[in-house]
Amino acid sequence: MSERPFTYDIKPPDFLPSRSDNHLVRRLSDMKGHFADAGALEMMVTEADKDVYEVYEISRPAVAGELRQGISVVHPGRVGDEYFMTKGHYHLVMDDAEIYYCLKGRGLMVMQTPEGEWAVEPLQPHRVLYVLPRWGHRLVNTDAHEDLVAFVAYAGDAGHDYDTIERCGFRKIVVERGGLPEIVDNPRWIAAKER
Ligand code: F6R
Ligand code: ZN
Repeated sequence: MSERPFTYDIKPPDFLPSRSDNHLVRRLSDMKGHFADAGALEMMVTEADKDVYEVYEISRPAVAGELRQGISVVHPGRVGDEYFMTKGHYHLVMDDAEIYYCLKGRGLMVMQTPEGEWAVEPLQPHRVLYVLPRWGHRLVNTDAHEDLVAFVAYAGDAGHDYDTIERCGFRKIVVERGGLPEIVDNPRWIAAKER
């Protein structure tokens, strides 16, 4: 029988999808090299290897024309003064864009191009963010207590380039200063010309 159109629900209060094909959990120990304070991360991993974020994937074939979907949940927390966040990535097919729709919580999307341009956009419930083609993206939860939850949809063939971010980092990181989020230069960032 041929495949049929399908629906699923994303309902409050937790906004987890009623259907998902994969559930990924990224713990502190998966985040080595991503937070600026490597010492603080190491200590936290030893004490309790907490979940940093989760992704519920609604999988589709990895071909252009399909749309993969998911729910990203970034938990509240900090490593040193840096807020919990996703690893972040470029799409392997750099021309593939992405839609984020924030369902719950408060946070920031940190974005950049390989050429060194950067942008940070605030996320709050009911806000849509369009991630342009070529822009690497990372979700940051800046709330002290609540999960940041977003629905995403992106081209089936997009793929994920994590290596570039692991090697070079994001140009900007988000830290807490006096109880408020502040965007600062990433001491680990390696500019394209030095890569
Ligand atoms: C897909 C996308 C999101 C992220 C998710 C986890 O292209 O941007 O579904 O995959 O928010 O973040 P990463 O993939 O950076 O670990
Ligand atoms: Zn993406």
